[in-house]
Amino acid sequence: MKTLLDKLYIENDLSERELALLLQNMDSESEKQLFEYSSMLKTKHYGKSVYMRGLIEFTNFCKQDCLYCGIRRSNSNAERYRLSKEEILRCCEEGHVLGYRTFVLQGGEDSHYDDSKIIDLIKLIKSNFPDSAVTLSIGEKSFESYKSYYDAGADRYLLRHETASKRLYEQLHPGMSFENRINCLKNLKKIGFQTGAGFMVGLPGQTNEDLAKDLVFLKEVKPEMVGIGPYIPHPNTPIGKNSGGSLEKTLIMLALARLLLPDVLLPSTTALGTIDPLGREKALNAGANVVMPNLSPTNMRKKYELYADKICTGDEAAHCRKCIEGRINRAGFEVDMSRGDHPSKQA
Ligand code: SAM
Ligand code: FES
Repeated sequence: MKTLLDKLYIENDLSERELALLLQNMDSESEKQLFEYSSMLKTKHYGKSVYMRGLIEFTNFCKQDCLYCGIRRSNSNAERYRLSKEEILRCCEEGHVLGYRTFVLQGGEDSHYDDSKIIDLIKLIKSNFPDSAVTLSIGEKSFESYKSYYDAGADRYLLRHETASKRLYEQLHPGMSFENRINCLKNLKKIGFQTGAGFMVGLPGQTNEDLAKDLVFLKEVKPEMVGIGPYIPHPNTPIGKNSGGSLEKTLIMLALARLLLPDVLLPSTTALGTIDPLGREKALNAGANVVMPNLSPTNMRKKYELYADKICTGDEAAHCRKCIEGRINRAGFEVDMSRGDHPSKQA
């Protein structure tokens, strides 16, 4: 395995077959080598800096019915909420005082928030905080909608591909199409967004071959950001009794993503902190360089329950900011509160 890892480190590329072989035969020695290489590449591109993004979960209404997701439309137990634009602006104000210069607006696919409301919101945030980046994560839209968000001033867009296996994608996303998801990502790139793809690890039925496909997909699309987190079962979903993804496998996938796309922006996800108390720190050591603490109002946090036992749902924004900073420092890294654009998009 050492030869494959060396090749990956030097060439930042491997075939799907080689990646599957690597995943199949990963032992503790190869893992150690993998994390060493991924850390070296992260340090080369970003030093000790970890970028901070303020996450605002502004609506949990969703018209989609993804089988794994706690806020899917068929979960009648989910208590629905949406923040008004004034409430969203207050979250940004609080975040800005705490030093955040990126606001991530995430939500279900909520038709109340139509294009004109989203455009209004982007313009409002950009005019109040001209030094800050706006990232959207609101699902699948037409080319024209994405373009109108970009023209209104949005900088980045997160749309995980969830899984690059068409078979698995279609099993997990009733009424949605794999081709459309891919097309959305291509449109976002074409328009000029710093684009985030990504996937879950440990989905029911997911194989090492499927995960190798995810990595090859990343290499093809070349997103500026990649979100990788463990799948965590939610009890009120059709697949809620399945087991979830492991910390170890997720760390391996993060490290491999860093080796394939050396300067990618790679978050250490809240989902990892949920399955292991030190999951986020371990991700930073495996090659991640971004964290996304929550700025949503505390009384709403529990309602944005994508999976069971999500952490930080009771904590004030200021507390999260401090807590994360302590964790980052103890792991040997430093908080960077700048906008943290991808190197290819820096002014
Ligand atoms: N609706 C938007 C979209 O489709 O991109 C953004 C919101 S969606 C809730 C954000 C991400 O949550 C998804 O891309 C998915 O990967 C993740 N997610 C949903 N349910 C999850 C679960 N049970 N475990 C881990 N991650 C989950
Ligand atoms: Fe829409 Fe999860 S099913 S956000």
